[in-house]
Amino acid sequence: MNEKVLNATALAMVADGRGLLAADESTGTIGKRFDSIKVENTEANRRAYRDMLFTTAGFEKHTSGVILYEETLFQSALDGTPFAKLLASKDVIPGIKVDTGAKPLPGSTSEMITEGLDGLRERLVKFHQAGARFAKWRAVITIGDGIPSDYCIHTNAHALARYAMLCQEAGIVPIVEPEVLMDADNSLEVCESVTDRTLEAVFHELYQQRVLLEGMILKPNMVIAGKKCSVQADRKTVAAATLRTLKRRVPSAVPGIAFLSGGQSDVDATAHLDEMNKLGPSTWKLTFSYGRALQAAALKAWGGTDADAGRKAHLHRARMNGLAAMGQWSAELEKAA
Ligand code: 13P
Repeated sequence: MNEKVLNATALAMVADGRGLLAADESTGTIGKRFDSIKVENTEANRRAYRDMLFTTAGFEKHTSGVILYEETLFQSALDGTPFAKLLASKDVIPGIKVDTGAKPLPGSTSEMITEGLDGLRERLVKFHQAGARFAKWRAVITIGDGIPSDYCIHTNAHALARYAMLCQEAGIVPIVEPEVLMDADNSLEVCESVTDRTLEAVFHELYQQRVLLEGMILKPNMVIAGKKCSVQADRKTVAAATLRTLKRRVPSAVPGIAFLSGGQSDVDATAHLDEMNKLGPSTWKLTFSYGRALQAAALKAWGGTDADAGRKAHLHRARMNGLAAMGQWSAELEKAA
């Protein structure tokens, strides 16, 4: 394991004012996004859409890396350049989603376990050859009546650590993503205690399985009330609760934390990140690894045909989040676009 290379890649992923674009929607998930703009889910349309995102002039200033889906890693841009090569030429690190999705947890009626460990060692070699220097694995933790169970948290934490160690062995930086979902009606306090339990289990497994903390990135949810909860905390409260929880559970050896957006509005996702960075320097870099909160506006503006409008919307969100990663965003800048 080349510890220096892993650490250098991890640090580059969270460089000042830069974060990650999560464009790794599976074919099924991108289909749902395309349905919303009435675009057919074909290979050509998926390629054209990702081409629009990755050819946005200047997005690299705010974007350190892009998480790709397997199909995209082996596809070429419309001008024939392989996407991985195109991104690397802009100093944007190509990454790859390697899990094969969250499946029903056996023995449970409502919880999920992420799969994809079988054959992963061999797949990682192929992905590294294709240019991927980091990877992502997402575990899903659901809040509800009597859940999450310790069983769900521990099996997912174990799989995350198995994945992370396999990545590091292959020279690939693992993004460790334990996502506590924000879809239910729970309070912020419940999210805080579930996130706390989850991170405790994840870092225990990472330690047990000898994962190099200096060579990974954590991708957590923010601590926030469920979408269906009638009481929603203000931004300062979300920022304080999120930082408090992370400080308790994330060792300072981890170079960076890149949040998921999880269904927050575009501006909330930006403002929450900004608020945390305004609270002053943390032991780790705090940045973004957003999917929906970086792409929703671009997807709509593109609408299947208008690449220039899509790029404009994409650049704006990338820029706003780049500012938030340094605590330099403001509502005025948001409107000035
Ligand atoms: P969202 O930001 O849309 O939650 O997606 C991030 C991601 O990569 C989920 O795995």
